[in-house]
Amino acid sequence: MRKKIVAGNWKMNMKLNDGLTLAEDINSHFITNPLNGRKVILCTPFIHLSLVSKLLTAEGLSSGAQNCNDHSSGAFTGEVSAAMIKSTGAGSVIIGHSERRTYYGETDGLLAAKTAEALRNGLMVIFCCGEVLAEREGKIHFEVVRRQLENGLFVLSPEDFSKCIIAYEPVWAIGTGVTASPAQAQEMHAFIRNLVREKYGTGMADETTILYGGSCKASNAAELFANPDVDGGLIGGASLLKEEFCNIVKAL
Ligand code: PGA
Repeated sequence: MRKKIVAGNWKMNMKLNDGLTLAEDINSHFITNPLNGRKVILCTPFIHLSLVSKLLTAEGLSSGAQNCNDHSSGAFTGEVSAAMIKSTGAGSVIIGHSERRTYYGETDGLLAAKTAEALRNGLMVIFCCGEVLAEREGKIHFEVVRRQLENGLFVLSPEDFSKCIIAYEPVWAIGTGVTASPAQAQEMHAFIRNLVREKYGTGMADETTILYGGSCKASNAAELFANPDVDGGLIGGASLLKEEFCNIVKAL
């Protein structure tokens, strides 16, 4: 069964204690309001990960990181490995977020290596793809997403691929307040699911969770999630507000 997931991406926000308070509040909420099979992942900065992982006790609620290094260990000052993330109790990691691609020059090849390393260490991968505005206006958005997935993710064996979920995040919608329309989201999600079908077959395509991300909030989540190929969301700004975030999960 395809999983329904809302993942919060805190990005570079929240001092230690503020993050712990937010995680505690969210945990209490989902103890009182059980997730009933849905999954919620809090992708925190590294500094929170160990403590947050321990305090999340609600069924279906877990923690994740926002990046990992492509090497397993060694002299890589300032970096964090997938094995280190796993050792905190975190269950997943975001790979290929557009901010990493744009600001840190992460290429498809590097992202494929990071994905392999994350999977080798038992983490679920939330693999991001999405086009910038000029690419959509130039009508090459399908090609761009196809290339990102083919080079970064479809190099995996079926067994490894089954441990990944995909997040479609049009870059022009991230942090801008402009959301893809439900029709635009559905169109791209159906396209992505079809790519998975071509590569891995119908069974895998049906099982693959595809999240939407980009200015998703409580007021637009329900109409986005109502689409047959949208299985949840990757939430940035709105994941920093407990009520807003929990209401997005409610919309799922
Ligand atoms: P946003 O970010 O919800 O603030 O637009 C989404 C993301 O970057 O994952």
